[in-house]
Amino acid sequence: MKDRRKLFVKSYGCQMNVYDSHRMADTLAPEGYVETATPDDADLIVLNTCHIREKAAEKVYSELGRLRELKDEAALQGRDVKIAVAGCVAQAEGKEIFRRSPAVDLVVGPQSYHRLPEMLGRTAHGKVIDTEFPPEDKFDRLAAPSSAAIRKRGVSAFITVQEGCDKFCTFCVVPYTRGVEVSRPVEKIVAEAERLADAGVREITLVGQNVNAYHGDDAGGRDATLARLLYRLADIPGLVRLRYTTSHPCDMADDLIAAHRDLPALMPQLHLPVQSGSDRMLEAMNRRHTRADYVRVVEKLRAARPDITFSSDFIVGFPGESDADFDDTMRLVAEVDFVAAYTFKYSPRPGTPAADMEQLPEAVKDERLQRLQREIENRQTAFLARCRGQTFDVLFDRAGRRPGQIAGRSPYLQTVQVMAPTSFIGEVVPVTITDMGRNTLFGAVADTLANSSPQADHSHVEVLGA
Ligand code: SAH
Ligand code: SF4
Ligand code: F3S
Repeated sequence: MKDRRKLFVKSYGCQMNVYDSHRMADTLAPEGYVETATPDDADLIVLNTCHIREKAAEKVYSELGRLRELKDEAALQGRDVKIAVAGCVAQAEGKEIFRRSPAVDLVVGPQSYHRLPEMLGRTAHGKVIDTEFPPEDKFDRLAAPSSAAIRKRGVSAFITVQEGCDKFCTFCVVPYTRGVEVSRPVEKIVAEAERLADAGVREITLVGQNVNAYHGDDAGGRDATLARLLYRLADIPGLVRLRYTTSHPCDMADDLIAAHRDLPALMPQLHLPVQSGSDRMLEAMNRRHTRADYVRVVEKLRAARPDITFSSDFIVGFPGESDADFDDTMRLVAEVDFVAAYTFKYSPRPGTPAADMEQLPEAVKDERLQRLQREIENRQTAFLARCRGQTFDVLFDRAGRRPGQIAGRSPYLQTVQVMAPTSFIGEVVPVTITDMGRNTLFGAVADTLANSSPQADHSHVEVLGA
């Protein structure tokens, strides 16, 4: 048995980092590392970083400043704390990280996480770095989670099925930090999903930088699309919900749209980044589709699954964006009726083509961001208001904010709070929506409403007052 040591992992950025952080913790567990919820008592601190916007990358350096103090204090008490930087900043900046933050012991790029135990051994002799794109498949070498680890992470889990990106949008660092598109084989994903389902996972979100560009080998060595993979996963007992993210509009193939019609487990909510509603901007961003193409995809999806809702990503203030271009974006938001979105001010990134174009003033970006955010918020609120009185399935996944309350997700991804026993966690239960908060829905378990016992009435009132 190895010495027990404490590990603190902090994830920034996208869901792929969340997944990778779990797999790093799983791989370090046989080395004696047990996860802790704070850096204060950790022997090893891993920052799993994001390079997508300048702010995201700078956040890492300010965190490293704080960790340096923590490491110095621990050293005074005779404790050796190691600091590792993983993720996209590690890949993009490499050795530069040691120069800016001398407290860092180890830098590891996203394709080399399986080498962590061996790299940690070498930190005894000095700084260690690995930002290679090794030929072996890291997923084959990363340890699988124990059943206990799966249960601790909850009833909803991610599986990375695809990594990297070949699209080269002119604003984006991902093709450089994550490399070319690579898909995992179907059977490995199915085995991982079965393992999760056996340990109590009820919902799986398939993740990838361009998840719908998935093309993995099936058992017979033939090419399988994301749709084929989803049909396969829908057969796994215990898995009641499937989602996938993030998709590119160009890869929204007809078989994937048909899966939304055919598979009740495939949830009626899609995150489909569009970035801009202006054809001129879409072209300058190298998005490879027009506004009309996007609207057509949305219409096809609505025909396949009428209750589907859409969320998106938007960039405002891309180089050359005029008032008219921005108005096109505002009009697209109304036309599609997005009920949620991430909105970003364009951030020039080193090594990307758009960074060399003439930039817009910050004040213009700020003003557009605010207008867009307001528009999205209004639509989000309107959607929540439309939910009132409706009954839909909620997958309960955690304790709620107040005693006696539990929380879960609607099929459309909103948080729903109800008064119900914690034994409901892990179950899908019909809930009638009674009220809304800013980002949350409140409801009552549909049976309780129907029976209308005094107890049920009481919990109903409690929820309304929440
Ligand atoms: N692969 C996904 C998303 C990748 S990054 C896709 O193609 O949609 C997530 C989001 O960050 C992007 O959708 C985009 O809206 C935003 N983003 C990426 N680079 C950016 C930059 N340089 N400045 C501002 N936002 C950016
Ligand atoms: Fe970045 Fe574009 Fe690839 Fe998405 S599709 S990861 S935005 S280059
Ligand atoms: Fe960020 Fe890398 Fe994900 S740049 S968004 S962590 S792929």
